[in-house]
Amino acid sequence: MNSNDKNDKNKIIVLEDEKKLLLDHDYDGIQELNHPLPKWWNFIFYTSCLFGLGYWAYYSFLGGPTQRDDLKQEMVGITAKQDEYKKLNSQYNEAKFAEFDKPENLLKGKEVFANNCVQCHEDGGYGNIGPNLTDDYWLVSKGNPETNYNIVYSGSEANGMPAWGEVLSSDDIYLALVYVKSLKNTFHPKGKEAQGEKVVEQQEQQQQ
Ligand code: HEC
Repeated sequence: MNSNDKNDKNKIIVLEDEKKLLLDHDYDGIQELNHPLPKWWNFIFYTSCLFGLGYWAYYSFLGGPTQRDDLKQEMVGITAKQDEYKKLNSQYNEAKFAEFDKPENLLKGKEVFANNCVQCHEDGGYGNIGPNLTDDYWLVSKGNPETNYNIVYSGSEANGMPAWGEVLSSDDIYLALVYVKSLKNTFHPKGKEAQGEKVVEQQEQQQQ
């Protein structure tokens, strides 16, 4: 069998098939073949229709969640996470302070202080509207990082100290605290008069 025979044979088969497929109408000599859609195509088509119908019924009548419901659901999770984070952040973290309490962080802390605190505590922390942070008298806190954290985080709005907990990042608060710690007992010459109670070294050591 040479290749020509093969071609002829194919040709005949195609023609025979086509005759079977010929539809019995004729438009100005143009005829049409009936090529039914493959089974797999029909299967996908009808399954999609069924799925679509089910989908439509579920979301339109059977109480399927709307995008608003989905959002609400997601928000519940997000708010819970935020609350947890806030709660965690509102507490002083000794390990975190220790991690930040390094000489190389002093400049960064000074910068945070310069950007947010000097308007009341003055450059160098000697005090103006806010108390002097360079002496050994402490008005609200006891001068140690933990009590300083509490006043910086929660503020004392009635007396003019803003709450920084939701304004500054947690890192910035710790950096500011590292700087505040370095000011303690440096007795700035321009220092504001003592306010509050004197915190003696010994007491301080017990607290730390
Ligand atoms: C708008 C003015 C203002 C700003 C800004 C401000 N403070 Fe204060 N700060 C105060 C006042 C007023 C007090 C005293 C609050 C009181 O008497 O209850 C205070 C108290 C403190 C105390 C406790 C001092 C003590 O003697 O017990 C610390 C620590 C402190 N501030 C740190 C900071 C830091 C850090 C920043 C910047 C992130 C800052 N403050 C920004 C006004 C301010």
